[in-house]
Amino acid sequence: MKVSVAEAKRILSHGGVIAIPTETVYGLAADATNPKAVEKIFRIKNRPSDNPLICHFYSFNDAKKYLAPFPVYLHKLTEQLSPGPVSYMLKLQLPSSLTVATRGREEVIIRIPKHDLLLQLLREIPFPLAAPSANTSGKFSSTNAQMIESDLGDKIDGVLDGGNSAIGLESTILDCREKNCIRILRPGAVGKDDIEWILRNEAVTVEENSAISITTPGSKYKHYSPRTPLTEVFSLSEIPSDKKNIAVLGVSEQLEKNFYKENMKLISLGSERNLQGIASTLYQKLFELDALNFDVAYFIHHDWGESAMGKALNNRISHFLMK
Ligand code: TXA
Ligand code: MG
Repeated sequence: MKVSVAEAKRILSHGGVIAIPTETVYGLAADATNPKAVEKIFRIKNRPSDNPLICHFYSFNDAKKYLAPFPVYLHKLTEQLSPGPVSYMLKLQLPSSLTVATRGREEVIIRIPKHDLLLQLLREIPFPLAAPSANTSGKFSSTNAQMIESDLGDKIDGVLDGGNSAIGLESTILDCREKNCIRILRPGAVGKDDIEWILRNEAVTVEENSAISITTPGSKYKHYSPRTPLTEVFSLSEIPSDKKNIAVLGVSEQLEKNFYKENMKLISLGSERNLQGIASTLYQKLFELDALNFDVAYFIHHDWGESAMGKALNNRISHFLMK
């Protein structure tokens, strides 16, 4: 059921749970300071109860009152990158009303999303929104209202429909707890180079590949996966040609290079020259794949390169390919 900003405000204020649009992926949101409302998110998603939730704010200024003293570079960073597709792990000012959302942890991950409709809502409510991605635990994130209706429709109190998520992959997560070092815990649209450029006059190093698993229990679990098992291949010739109902995913250049086979449904991810384009519809392509109800599908290997978006794509895709 689609809801307006006014209805969303009323539902959230009464402890309800709604899907919210963001520029990265949709979130499943509740009042972060309301323990009962936060627990509902875990039940709806079937999310392991030790997996903490990102808290969303209208502005960095609104988030400050929840934070312990933080590194000075954070002002520069948030000024340049927020609202935007970046989340910051910071120490909480204890005791905190956010520890239900953080599952008892003393650090919180905060985000100021860049989406007009959501910012309108966040401006009007006096509490932050705890919101993991809007999907059943283990599955790929939803990037439009149709995907949410299909996955969670009957379990939630509404969807604030803000169209297709522009970026299509989850935010970059930065561990900003240390004074002189930032760790990228999850790659996203904003990369190491962007951060280093913004902080070029500061004595701060930026480290990559510090998987969120070091700090996050959530990563023990399956992530970003379609229901249809996807096996990686290096060319179409590796795909058994005698089988029926086979789906093949790949960048358009690879699919075009290969001849068409009648029993294959080709799903093009888009051109390798436009990684942003591929990211923005990747999860929608997985949704399309699952709707086919095939037993097997293949993913043509691609080297995604070293750009921020390339690394983010590689990270998500390597999670959902069969090992
Ligand atoms: O783009 C995004 O970040 C989206 C939109 C809705 O904002 N949200 C999102 O949330 O991707 P989620 O829950 O799907 O992924 C957040 C990750 C999870 O791996 C979770 O375990 C971790 O961040 N996380 C959240 N709060 C944490 C905390 N306080 N300490 C450690 N890890 C945390
Ligand atoms: Mg998620």
